[in-house]
Amino acid sequence: MIQNSGYVTVDGEFDTLKERSFFTIDDFKMQGKIVILRIDINSSVNPENGEILDDTRIRRHAATVKELSESKAKIIILAHQSRPGKLDFVNLKKHSKRMSEIIDIKIKFIPDIYGEKALNSISKLNNGDILMLDNVRFDKEEIELSLFENDNFEKQANSKLVETLAPLADLFVNDAFAAAHRCQPSLVGFSERMPALAGRVMQRELDFLGKAISSGPSPRIALLGGSKAADSVSISKYFLKKGIDYVLTGGVVANVFLLAAGIDIGEPSKKFIEKNIPDYENIIKKAKRLIDEYGERIVYPTDIAINDNGQRVGITIDQLPTKHPIHDIGLDTLVKYINLINNAGTIIANGPMGVFENREFAIGTKEIFKSISNHSGMTVVGGGETAMAFNQMGLTEGIKHISTGGGSCIAFMADETMPVLEAMRRSKIKFGK
Ligand code: 3PG
Repeated sequence: MIQNSGYVTVDGEFDTLKERSFFTIDDFKMQGKIVILRIDINSSVNPENGEILDDTRIRRHAATVKELSESKAKIIILAHQSRPGKLDFVNLKKHSKRMSEIIDIKIKFIPDIYGEKALNSISKLNNGDILMLDNVRFDKEEIELSLFENDNFEKQANSKLVETLAPLADLFVNDAFAAAHRCQPSLVGFSERMPALAGRVMQRELDFLGKAISSGPSPRIALLGGSKAADSVSISKYFLKKGIDYVLTGGVVANVFLLAAGIDIGEPSKKFIEKNIPDYENIIKKAKRLIDEYGERIVYPTDIAINDNGQRVGITIDQLPTKHPIHDIGLDTLVKYINLINNAGTIIANGPMGVFENREFAIGTKEIFKSISNHSGMTVVGGGETAMAFNQMGLTEGIKHISTGGGSCIAFMADETMPVLEAMRRSKIKFGK
């Protein structure tokens, strides 16, 4: 049964927190203010012609940019694309063009970050104008000053980027949730010098992810699959502590929990774990401690599909070990998981249930994702590969929130320190009014 645990939904949106530990755009008047806006439009780019292959993040941030422009702020956008040494480490000209098309407002791209060209263009900004500066990772310090050291952001705040641009601006809007686990100058340096406000993407991510984990409608369940078993074990620990009712496992994550429960999954699946999961023995120990503490709240498959020379063959857990690799959850498990999904109020999904790239073994993932997509409750999907899988299957429509974050979403769900959130918190204390 779905119970509403104290907050109302309006048109599918969940209401906002009353007391936030960070500022948002609603806390300040924007008209005439010079705003540095950090977004994360790091996208798949064709390295041969620089064409953007997936504009999801650009579309998501476009709403914040449009709102700020319509509020008559003067906007300086900072963003990154890829990392030095990679083929898609390109400038942001095409990103700015794409965003400009989406919001139907001109965005001037400046092939400079804090040099003369950039400063000159900033000095000419009128209310509502938008500039996009170049890939901040072209700046050496952005790469080098990336550690959260001595519990402060001093190095980042003293970087040339921040030293040069901060005196020109009134407010810093941080919308880069997808990079919130990073500690680079453009992400955490400005918060020391002026009020740092969460942009709309950031605000929505924190609302949805935060509430799904701790206060969404009951029962709250999480589906954790895929091959990032170490992350998933940490996420399970945090989720169960926060009161998520059931953690349903699939993929390699399920295999790790099966091993932790003392079930021999067979050589091929064991070998996969030994080869691909660093420190796997410790991860299995951690998983065992969780099973000891939380028992049946961690749910693993009772039957599975093995890959017998390309054929899908269903077997029960009692029939293990097997000499074939486990490539999907079994049909009984699928029915059980779908029942738990249908009866849940909040569902968080991160990772596939099996090797869904192979049609034979896509059933578990596809049917589970379909039932999440058809669910009317609070459905939240992790970013990166999980979001891509929902997208490929055409199942994004019904989901209430799909995270823009890959690594940052995982870090948030595993309760790791997020330098950007910490910087925003401190900024509110420093500049609180
Ligand atoms: C991402 O795509 O996950 C973010 O933009 C962060 O990128 P990074 O892992 O290169 O810091």
